[in-house]
Amino acid sequence: MYDRGKIITGIIIFLVLLFIPFLYNFITGKATYVPEPVIGTSEKECVESKVFMRTDHMKLLDEWKETVVRHGVRNYKARNGKTYTIDITGTCMECHTDKEKFCDRCHNYAGVEPKCWNCHVYKKVAGR
Ligand code: HEC
Ligand code: HEC
Ligand code: HEC
Repeated sequence: MYDRGKIITGIIIFLVLLFIPFLYNFITGKATYVPEPVIGTSEKECVESKVFMRTDHMKLLDEWKETVVRHGVRNYKARNGKTYTIDITGTCMECHTDKEKFCDRCHNYAGVEPKCWNCHVYKKVAGR
């Protein structure tokens, strides 16, 4: 009736195919790799919560740009009640001192390359 040999071979091939992605990740270490951005300051908090910053920093930067360019306002009232000067170079990059080890580490991983640095500046860390 049924060919047991063929069925078993089929099942084995199916299982191998099913596990190839896991094996691949296991061998290359990809599944467990997450970027480790170096914060770059001894300050304890960002302008907003870490969770907010992690997911929404690009929106915040966009909002900052609009506030300055459209409204000429250079103060940002954060949700923690503090006021920060709207300045990507003088505020963000004063705390996040090593762009390569902070911004770039995540961006390389995520495959994004914001073109902000054609115009905005950051301090290069010595030795690069
Ligand atoms: C073509 C040049 C150019 C590029 C590219 C550019 N900007 Fe700007 N940006 C400016 C100029 C000019 C101003 C106005 C400067 C001022 O009034 O301080 C500005 C202002 C800003 C401000 C408010 C002032 C400050 O210095 O923080 C923010 C925030 C900002 N840009 C973020 C960004 C981000 C984020 C990117 C990348 C996604 C970006 N910009 C790309 C030219 C540029
Ligand atoms: C006063 C210093 C300071 C300033 C200014 C600052 N940050 Fe932060 N930032 C921090 C600290 C400290 C953390 C880590 C917070 C924590 O662990 O709770 C952080 C976290 C972050 C994170 C999340 C990192 C992660 O591992 O998830 C991003 C993204 C970020 N900041 C981007 C920015 C941007 C963009 C600006 C400017 C709009 C900025 N920061 C301004 C100190 C600062
Ligand atoms: C915790 C990881 C992480 C850190 C740290 C981080 N970013 Fe990002 N950033 C991302 C991710 C992920 C995206 C892409 C989000 C998307 O498009 O879904 C992004 C997108 C952006 C964008 C929008 C890019 C575009 O082309 O639309 C800007 C601008 C930006 N980041 C600026 C910064 C700056 C400036 C810093 C350093 C002060 C920084 N980021 C640090 C993860 C990070």
